[in-house]
Amino acid sequence: MKIFEELREDHEKQRSLLKILAETSGDTPARREYFTQLKEQLESHAVAEERYFYSKLMESDQTIDMSRHGIAEHHEIDELIETLENTDMGSSAWLTHLKSLQEKVEHHLADEEQEFFQVAGKVLNEQDKSKLAGDYREEMQKELAKH
Ligand SMILES: [Fe+2]
Ligand SMILES: [Fe+2]
Repeated sequence: MKIFEELREDHEKQRSLLKILAETSGDTPARREYFTQLKEQLESHAVAEERYFYSKLMESDQTIDMSRHGIAEHHEIDELIETLENTDMGSSAWLTHLKSLQEKVEHHLADEEQEFFQVAGKVLNEQDKSKLAGDYREEMQKELAKH
C-alpha cells in the first residue's frame, strides 16, 4: 500500500460523512453521532497527514509551497468545525455552516488528490511511499483512539 491510497481511503470516509450529515435535520442523536465521527476523522487525518505526508514534502523545494497551502487549509477546516460546535445544532445556521465545511473539505481533497499527489508522486521515492503509508495508518489509529 502506498501513502496515496491510505489518504484516499480516509478522504472517502470524510466525503461520505459530510454527505450523510448534509441530509440530517435538527438536533438529533444521529446528527450528533455523525458530527462527532466527522470531527474525529478530520482532526486525526490532519494530524497524521501533516506528520507523515506534508512534513516529508516540506523538505523539497518542489513541494514546499504546496505543503504550506495544504496545511493552511487544514486550519481553515478547523475553524469551520469550531464554528459548527458553537452553533445551535437545531438551527438552520448549523446546516449552512455544515455546507460551507463540506465545500471547503471537498475543495481541499480535490487539490490534494488531483494536484498534490501527482507532484508528490515524483518527489517521493518508492520506499518513502510505502514507509509513509504504514506510519500514517499507525498515527491515524493512535489519534482516533484518543477520542
Ligand atoms: Fe488529506
Ligand atoms: Fe489534507
